[in-house]
Order: sequence, then C-alpha cells, then structure tokens
Amino acid sequence: MSHAPGTGIGGTPIAEEALRAARVLHPDANSMPRPARRRVITVANQKGGVGKTTSTVNLAAGLALHGVRTLVIDLDPQGNASTALDVDHRSGTPSVYELLLGETTLADAAQASTQSENLLCIPATIDLAGAEIELVSMAQREARLKEGLTREALEAIDVDYVFIDCPPSLGLLTVNALVAADEVLIPIQCEYYALEGLGQLLNNIELVQRHLNQTLTVSTILLTMYDGRTKLADQVTQEVRRHFGDVVLKTIIPRSVKVSEAPGYGQTVLGYDPGSRGAMSYVDAAREVAERGTNRELRP
Ligand SMILES: Nc1ncnc2c1ncn2[C@@H]1O[C@H](COP(=O)(O)OP(=O)(O)OP(=O)(O)O)[C@@H](O)[C@H]1O
Ligand SMILES: [Mg+2]
Repeated sequence: MSHAPGTGIGGTPIAEEALRAARVLHPDANSMPRPARRRVITVANQKGGVGKTTSTVNLAAGLALHGVRTLVIDLDPQGNASTALDVDHRSGTPSVYELLLGETTLADAAQASTQSENLLCIPATIDLAGAEIELVSMAQREARLKEGLTREALEAIDVDYVFIDCPPSLGLLTVNALVAADEVLIPIQCEYYALEGLGQLLNNIELVQRHLNQTLTVSTILLTMYDGRTKLADQVTQEVRRHFGDVVLKTIIPRSVKVSEAPGYGQTVLGYDPGSRGAMSYVDAAREVAERGTNRELRP
C-alpha cells in the first residue's frame, strides 16, 4: 500500500476513520464533564424535518457513550426517537402518554437503549397522537410533563441530562416540553428558509418565559445538514451566527448519508458508523454542550 510521503500510515483515510471511531467509542480517555446540576433540554423547532430527532438521539448518545447518564423523552407521536434508540413503543407500552396522564412514573416508563447502558428513553406510542386534544381539558395542562419530572423521579433513574424531542408544532406537547425544561436547543437546517418561522418559535418561548417558566433560556443553536458544496449553506451559517452569536455551537453537523441511514437499523450514527464524520460531529457537538454548560443564553 502506498501513501503520501511523510504522512505515514496515520495519514491515510482509513487510518483517519479508525482514529475518529476510537474517539467516538473509547470514552475512557475522552470522558465528558458531568454538569454541576441536572440539565433538562428541550429540542424544539416547529419546522418539520430540521434535525430535531436526529440531534436529540445523537447528542444524547454522545454524552452517554462518554459516561454521562442521559434520558431521552420522545414527545412526538411519530415515535422517531424511540425507533432510533431501539426501544419498544408498541401501543400499550408504558410511555410518555401515561406519564402525561400521571398514570406511570419515569422509572416505570424508562427503557434502556441498546446503544449504551447510560442511555435511557421514555418512548412515544401511537396513543400520544390524541394527547394534543385530550390535554386541552385537563387541569394544569401545560405542566403535565413537568409534574412527571420531579427531582425525586429523576434521582430514581439517576440521570444528569434529559433531552426532550418535540413534534413539529407549537401545540400543547411542545408547550409542555418548554415548561418542563431549563434550556431550549434549536436545530437549524442549513437550507433555504432556515430562519422562516424562527420568530414565531422565539415568540412562543418568550410567552412561556413570561407566564409559565421564568427560568427557561435558549441556550443552544445547532446548525444541521450542512452541505459544504453549496454557497447557500455558508450564507445560512453566517446569517445564523450574525443573529444569534455564541449561542450557536461552533460544531456544525454535515449532511451525511450515514446519519440518515442509522435509524433504519435502530441505531444512532455513533453506533452505526462510529468512524463517520456525522458521528464525530455529534460527539464534538455533545462535548461543546457539556463543556459550555449554561454560560451562554439568549433572552428572545
Ligand atoms: N446530518 C444529516 N445528514 C443527512 N440526513 C439527515 C441529517 N440529519 C437529519 N437527516 C435526515 O433528515 C430527515 C429529518 O431529520 P429529523 O427526523 O431528525 O428531523 P425532525 O426535525 O425531527 O423532523 P420532524 O419535524 O418530522 O420531527 C430524516 O430523514 C433524517 O434521517
Ligand atoms: Mg422528529
């Protein structure tokens, strides 16, 4: 085998991929800091298909594989996060629906993911599809999820991070997620109309801050599906950074086939192809989330 002079075996693409895989899969040398206190992060954007679920499961896996116990709450009736984390979400399984109704506890509904022993998931079943309407007539309808996430309940499952994956709407499910969280993470796709609807999302967050959850902050924006071959992706990146400054993570998630293939195998991209750029970028993004804590925030 020949390789460029001076680069040695370490300079070949295969060796680089192996090095990336080692960084993703060998947590001991690269463990991530635990937060000073437990962080509950809602992943929201009412625009569909921007990478909410993909970012939720892969950031959570990034933390979990590096020793930080993490819970994913699937709050979308589509159940995509449950699929990606390979947890049972057939109708009748204790799920986030029963949690909202107060009929189950976190400990009873949480399932271990096959991806990591540190990664738990509260699944969404098809029953959640009716919840948006059923919640309307319930007492404390905006705070049902928060009531299920008491300190005792979270201590019982011993997690440092909770990520809540929202559906693509600003309805009561997303409001429940915003009320239950300390932070919002907004994924933005590096595509046309990326900023469309963002004003509406920020307005809703402001309403929740004013009336329901004063301590909520927009702590993180993550740019996703970046395609380096297009000028547009750079323009969107620059515009988002100009608008939102250092709330935007330095790490940008590239568009990558491996990222989109992984859920079909009930895996995160970290498990599916740990040497891929998609896996590496989610590990880098997870590390940024862990290292910057809640220092930066945006009050819309
Ligand atoms: N970095 C990426 N590279 C390639 N494909 C991606 C990437 N991120 C996400 N995708 C794909 O784009 C689609 C939308 O992503 P995802 O489901 O995460 O978005 P979402 O915001 O959760 O969607 P919804 O609003 O329907 O819940 C999926 O098919 C996913 O596999
Ligand atoms: Mg989704």
